[in-house]
Amino acid sequence: MNDLSFFLPCAAGVEEFLAQEVHALTGRVGQDLLTLRGGVRVRADWRDALKLNLHSRLAQRVLVELAHAPYRNENDLYAIASGVAWEIWFTPKQTFKIETTAQHSPLQSLNFATLRIKDAIADRFRAKANGVRPSIETQWPDTRVFAHLTTDSCTLYIDTSGEPLFKRGWRQDKGDAPLKETLAAAMLAASGWWNPETGAVTDEPLYDPCCGSGTIAIEAAQIARGIAAGSLRRFGFEKLLPFQAHVWDAIKKEAQSAVKPGSVAIFGSDVSHRMVDFAERNAERAGVAEAIEFRGGDALQRMPPAEGGVIMLNPPYGERIEVGGVARAGARESAQTEEGDGSDFFPQLATHWKKNYAGWTAWVLTPDLKLPKQMRLKESRRVPMWNGPIECRLFRFDMVAGSARK
Ligand SMILES: C[S@@+](CC[C@H](N)C(=O)[O-])C[C@H]1O[C@@H](n2cnc3c(N)ncnc32)[C@H](O)[C@@H]1O
Repeated sequence: MNDLSFFLPCAAGVEEFLAQEVHALTGRVGQDLLTLRGGVRVRADWRDALKLNLHSRLAQRVLVELAHAPYRNENDLYAIASGVAWEIWFTPKQTFKIETTAQHSPLQSLNFATLRIKDAIADRFRAKANGVRPSIETQWPDTRVFAHLTTDSCTLYIDTSGEPLFKRGWRQDKGDAPLKETLAAAMLAASGWWNPETGAVTDEPLYDPCCGSGTIAIEAAQIARGIAAGSLRRFGFEKLLPFQAHVWDAIKKEAQSAVKPGSVAIFGSDVSHRMVDFAERNAERAGVAEAIEFRGGDALQRMPPAEGGVIMLNPPYGERIEVGGVARAGARESAQTEEGDGSDFFPQLATHWKKNYAGWTAWVLTPDLKLPKQMRLKESRRVPMWNGPIECRLFRFDMVAGSARK
């Protein structure tokens, strides 16, 4: 288990930051650490896999690559899967699930491809274990196998994470459009507030004025305190055969002893008091309640919580989350106009920031590529980021007094 090849998928746009994080956690460089499209490949050992699962804030999962071979049809997939020593990883008494993804695969049916891989795994176990074979469980499998097909190659992985890593275990209360924890961490990395290579954070106060369930603020506070991202959850590797409880306990103990008092000020507010309540409960579970100040309030009215710092948010957008507060009330009053939806929110937010937040830097994640125009602000950076299937930009605005577009 000392020379394994891992693939860590991540959201598009996040690969470089993930590579920095993986380098910091494993020390691997050069050919042992490759930044690919949609993830990072690293050659490392089994112990590293446990550390990556526990600490990574940017990876979606940690997968072990078990086969990579050319294929032309389903029979080739059967042969590739038959050649993998699955019995090293799990027993025929455990359940498993296969998830297949494909990019330009010539095969007609991914379901049939998945079925052939499943048959190969089951037949191999049956032959080795006196007719006993593991059964399929799609909801709560003990083991997950991932197959990725390109035009002509098939890669098979066994998963070590279980539930995807954005599920940190502390967000039990959430609104309609919560941000994935991994994406919140990516925003913090892209802004430079957090350096995934060194683990350091800047000393600038951080403020999310549309905090919802508190994801950005809580993620930031955990980073500042050195609390491991996965310290509250279980992982798939705990059910795999190479798992050794004493190794895992030592890794967790080491992580626990690295927790420090946070020294940077972090703030969150939301127009919905219900959301503020959720955020406070989530922060409590995440062990950072005393590191964040949450308040109720309209982003168009809240005054700066500190003298200067970084504003970071994914604002209300589209149908799932409506703008609340004065922008919405204003739009209702002038109801004869077609803007009954709070669409004044962004120009008003820009005016409020220009007037009251001079010296602050604002980072706004949005799928609306015309947001700067709507805010009449010129962005100083735009970072492409994907929120699941939605293409977004993280815009940076430097709030200098009088920074309005002419
Ligand atoms: C897309 S959600 C943010 C989700 C958050 N990042 C999370 O992870 O839960 C937008 C949030 O903006 C809030 N909101 C809407 N209008 C607002 C306003 N005028 N002032 C402050 N917050 C507002 C909503 O209540 C909602 O929680």
